[in-house]
Amino acid sequence: MKRTKVSTLLSTPALIGTEVEAKGWVRTRRGNKHVQFVQLNDGSTINNIQVVFDMNLFSEDQLKPLTTGSSLRVKGLLVESQGKGQTCEIQAKEFEVYGSADPLAYPLQKKGHTLEFLRDIAHLRPRTNTFGAVLRIRSALAFAIHKFFQEKGFYYLNTPLITASDAEGAGAMFQVTTLDVENPPRDEEGRVDYSADFFGKHTSLTVSGQLEGELGATALGEIYTFGPTFRAENSNTPRHLAEFWMIEPEMAFYDITDNMDLAEEFVKYCIKYALDNCADDIRFLEQMYDKGLTERLNFVVNNDFIRLSYGEGVKILEESGKKFEFPVHWGTDLQSEHERYLVEEHFKKPVILTDYPKEIKAFYMKQNEDGKTVRAMDVLFPHIGEIIGGSEREENYDKLMARIEELHIPMKDMWWYLDTRRFGTVPHSGFGLGFERLVLFVTGMTNIRDVIPFPRTPGKAEF
Ligand code: 4AD
Ligand code: MG
Repeated sequence: MKRTKVSTLLSTPALIGTEVEAKGWVRTRRGNKHVQFVQLNDGSTINNIQVVFDMNLFSEDQLKPLTTGSSLRVKGLLVESQGKGQTCEIQAKEFEVYGSADPLAYPLQKKGHTLEFLRDIAHLRPRTNTFGAVLRIRSALAFAIHKFFQEKGFYYLNTPLITASDAEGAGAMFQVTTLDVENPPRDEEGRVDYSADFFGKHTSLTVSGQLEGELGATALGEIYTFGPTFRAENSNTPRHLAEFWMIEPEMAFYDITDNMDLAEEFVKYCIKYALDNCADDIRFLEQMYDKGLTERLNFVVNNDFIRLSYGEGVKILEESGKKFEFPVHWGTDLQSEHERYLVEEHFKKPVILTDYPKEIKAFYMKQNEDGKTVRAMDVLFPHIGEIIGGSEREENYDKLMARIEELHIPMKDMWWYLDTRRFGTVPHSGFGLGFERLVLFVTGMTNIRDVIPFPRTPGKAEF
């Protein structure tokens, strides 16, 4: 007999009255000597199916292994449920235990663990309701991202994870080497000789796929990347990971306004997709953690984002009369407290800030006429702060070179990038969405470590 998933059993009235087989893990068992109830979950939905054991047919001994966390296959009649809270249940006729879970040893024996505790058992936390919900939403969002871009005719471009250029300056990098780190080969001056390394040069894990994305966009027109990204900063915040996933669309012939339009349409699409397809999981997280979740998600989907320049934003912050931990004036990089003030207190809407001072942004951003600012755009979200960073790119070879020289960026690493400006250069734009920050927003969780299955943060790479 073929196993039916719990999600199907619970949502297919036509199955009622038929014999079915389910497989999954026991969440709880309770009952008395006449009847026992097992809540069975198989990960296909946050909802459990109730399995009813008539104790005239089974012995106490037979049911003994069915403790929280054990796994089983059960066959029986699917019937409409008398009890509250479930549509149907299985009247067990026959079952088989796949694996027991010693109640004295199983860490999830009891409910109600803190998220901090669950982080220390990240290998088991997907079995909790919370992480089941988060991981299903994460998966749905990943699908929505591909769907959005594929339906628009963007091509999925895979950019390298190992890179020899560290020019983007988006963050500290993890070195990749096969040299013996305790005794590396050295040149005459005593410096490590990377020509003897695996790639014949110094290499690292990528901080962004953008530069290669631009190579794709200036050939295919519109591309997007979606892959892991690595940053070795020692930032222990609820919004930073050392290994995170980023989506980076890059589009030929887009100016900054086209770029903002796309970014806004894109995040709204993803959030709407989750609302439409993950209702049970969102409802669960709302009840457990964040009473305003659905309302906030709908609000973002249904309202235009505010668009204003960095300069106007700074003015609002200066005039707010609010005491910030980090003082703010024209030229300072905005901290999350400033971003959240604009979004949560001043506008009460997502905000797209543009035209940042060139000193605090990357070398490749298109320079404005004023000589002071660049055509950058950051999308700022309630509870999150920066969710997207992007820009129109400087397509003029001479201007780009001037900036590269000003910043002393090592040119030998950049010749291939400059070829996009030497051969058939075009206006183009792009942005990067931090995938976990989107998942954070949609799930209402408050720590980024709780929206990726196996978080990598300073000092933590256990599971
Ligand atoms: O603003 P960032 O650094 O932009 C870039 O990397 C550009 N190359 C993007 C582009 O234009 N193609 O990063 C983009 C986004 C941020 O807005 C944030 O959401 C996320 O990536 N992000 C992180 N997420 C988790 N942990 C970190 N350490 C992150 N750093 C950035
Ligand atoms: Mg940024």
